[in-house]
Amino acid sequence: MEKSKNKFYIRTYGCQMNKYDSEVIKNLLLKLNFREVSSPEEADYVFLNTCAVREHAEKRVFGRLDSLKGLKRVKPDTVIGVLGCVAKYHPELIGHPVVDFLAPPDSYRNLIQWLKTKRKGTIPENENEEYSDIFISPNKISSYLSITRGCNYFCSYCVVPYTRGRIRSRPPEDILEEAQSLVNSGTKEIILLGQNINAYHYNGIDFPEILKRVSSIKGVKRLGFLTSHPGDLPKELFSVMAAFDNITNYLHLPLQSGSDKILTRMNRGYKLKDYIKIIEEARNLMPDSNLTTDIIVGFPGEKEEDFQKTLDAMKRIRFDQAYMFAYSNRKGTLSALFPNQVEKKVRKQRLQRLIYTQNEITREKARELIGKEREVLILGEGKKGCKLGKDRNGRIIMTDGVAKIGTEYIIKINKVNGWVPFGGIKKEA
Ligand code: SAH
Ligand code: SF4
Ligand code: F3S
Repeated sequence: MEKSKNKFYIRTYGCQMNKYDSEVIKNLLLKLNFREVSSPEEADYVFLNTCAVREHAEKRVFGRLDSLKGLKRVKPDTVIGVLGCVAKYHPELIGHPVVDFLAPPDSYRNLIQWLKTKRKGTIPENENEEYSDIFISPNKISSYLSITRGCNYFCSYCVVPYTRGRIRSRPPEDILEEAQSLVNSGTKEIILLGQNINAYHYNGIDFPEILKRVSSIKGVKRLGFLTSHPGDLPKELFSVMAAFDNITNYLHLPLQSGSDKILTRMNRGYKLKDYIKIIEEARNLMPDSNLTTDIIVGFPGEKEEDFQKTLDAMKRIRFDQAYMFAYSNRKGTLSALFPNQVEKKVRKQRLQRLIYTQNEITREKARELIGKEREVLILGEGKKGCKLGKDRNGRIIMTDGVAKIGTEYIIKINKVNGWVPFGGIKKEA
């Protein structure tokens, strides 16, 4: 590695965990005098931090690699690495004409050493890696903070346990130190991350305890977390969320299907009635809570009547928002071997129907906010010169362009733009 060759470009695909990991990678590189640039053309090193959760996510990465062929021809010295979940899921990518190395999710500490020798191949991963002592500093108003890595659930459709390994919980003191350093660098909202964040456990300390401890750090104006599994929720979670002022009453709780038969095949470990009970409890303790979910349609064996159950569950529960996906068959997962795979065309049609139903609900939920006042923390620019922010329960709210990023305002909602509530500023909060 020549001294002058220190410019890197990084592009991140996939979930919040990957966004967090990219910050970890940047942190490691910047400490060693690497410099981030904004295009692959300017870079000595091009890193794609990738996602394998669905075929579509993967295709975007393959497409990007193809488009880098031209760059490799003109600048053959550019080192191109595939990082993240695709690096683990597709080891054969090392044979791709533009790929110099693969770096799966637990290998990033070994990246620098690897670049020094510029070997071709796959960077070895560290066992039980938590990146616990690495404190990111993204200088953002809202920052992610990862507290667990991996997942033990093995839902039958999902690649994550294969790409990211078993669950590991980070020591509380490292979490608190990172939270403090985020606040010192200007962060006002912290979002704690884990694939099943409620499974956090470290020497007798569980997730509600971590929430309380982070929430007590001075300067943490908002505290949220992603993602919860309905099978993991500790008893006192909702009462902690309700009791602490700066914890957002936002729960992202993937349902995946409204049919018990499909939930069993998915290996989710709960039935619709268990799920509904949790939602009722959440709404009882947190009346203004913001509830969102993930749904998969067209899972192997899903009949029209199963799909109807999902539609009915959506109408009954009325989520504030939902992230909806057509089932994607992932090699190596259990469900890839299931009989009765649903035709792609049918999966797509069901997805359209589900999106249509949820969009109506999302719009209605947004309209219910008209006339209400909310404390909104402004996070960034929106469309047409507007600003975007979040209320205390993590709902996205739009307002006038004059609002300052990082400031909290009392905003009175007066209309809905598409799905997003829009309001005028009354005063600073
Ligand atoms: N750990 C989180 C989410 C992980 S992936 C959780 O369990 O809730 C995010 C979402 O992608 C999942 O909730 C699921 O809805 C979707 N997903 C995962 N694998 C998929 C697949 N093979 N096909 C379609 N959607 C999938
Ligand atoms: Fe995947 Fe299930 Fe783990 Fe979520 S809980 S990451 S869907 S295996
Ligand atoms: Fe996240 Fe995609 Fe990996 S959802 S954990 S980046 S497969």
